[in-house]
Amino acid sequence: MISKNIAILGGGNLGSSIAKGLIKSGLMQPRQITVTNLDLSLIEQLKEDTGVNITTNNAEAVSNAKIVIIAVKPTAAHFIINEIKETLQTDKHVVISVISGIKLPNLEELLGDIPVIRAMPNTAIAIRESMTALSFNEKGLAYKDEVVEIFNQLGATMIIPEAQMPAATVLASCGIAFALRFMRAASQGGIEIGFSSKQSLEVAAQIMKGASKLIIENGTHPEPEIDKVTTPLGVTIKSLNKMEHEGFSSSLVQGVVTGYNKILETES
Ligand SMILES: NC(=O)c1ccc[n+]([C@@H]2O[C@H](COP(=O)([O-])OP(=O)(O)OC[C@H]3O[C@@H](n4cnc5c(N)ncnc54)[C@H](OP(=O)(O)O)[C@@H]3O)[C@@H](O)[C@H]2O)c1
Repeated sequence: MISKNIAILGGGNLGSSIAKGLIKSGLMQPRQITVTNLDLSLIEQLKEDTGVNITTNNAEAVSNAKIVIIAVKPTAAHFIINEIKETLQTDKHVVISVISGIKLPNLEELLGDIPVIRAMPNTAIAIRESMTALSFNEKGLAYKDEVVEIFNQLGATMIIPEAQMPAATVLASCGIAFALRFMRAASQGGIEIGFSSKQSLEVAAQIMKGASKLIIENGTHPEPEIDKVTTPLGVTIKSLNKMEHEGFSSSLVQGVVTGYNKILETES
């Protein structure tokens, strides 16, 4: 149980998901969490579902918190930081930015002399199954154990040099969409061969869960696991080879690299 209060500034897709995950983890009481949005009506349901505090006042949320998570779009970052800058105190606050594309030196320049951490989670944080990459500034390192403990409660955590943040943004954060698109495509195939849409999605979701657990729990690589399914002259290898002829692995790799290049173009 963490005794400190958290302010989540920008209760949108990710900010609200973090709040839900924190409540599910039991790490904090709902009253310890304050979520902000410019439009309260957008987070009223979150309050109803989880019991967290909600407000439009970012500075007030920060003054009542120790840990401040900034979860707005990059375009809103300067504006929100200006709103809270006067309230932030070096010895009291630690700021965690989940904003993609704004680097630690830039955040330090905007925030002043504050411990800062960049976190790159994905929306599965709402059900405590995120893959979260973390990078710390020098002052932020003092909070490493505490921050890792929080994100470990919300899924898996990986500490990386900040130079790898663009890669983490694509593979860990956008990656959830890539995996979901695979799931959708597999279930569409399932419908074509006779399953109902509901059955097909259920099967596709469970095979992804099973495949993930095989790798995570056995600590193996996908290829030896694939070898166990591909009988010579069999069905699986025929299907897999057809997929590869159509560019399956290649299109995934190209998609990941395209996303990475886009982030490199825009980060500041
Ligand atoms: N979604 C993901 O899976 C994901 C994963 C990793 C990182 N990220 C990063 O996390 C950040 C948030 O992404 P998101 O998808 O959650 O965006 P989002 O859904 O747009 O959420 C941001 C929310 O903050 C609100 N907001 C803007 N300015 C504010 C202010 N001054 N005070 C309070 N609230 C304010 C926005 O309101 P308006 O819409 O009215 O502006 C919006 O509701 C982005 O920087 C993104 O790159 C997202």
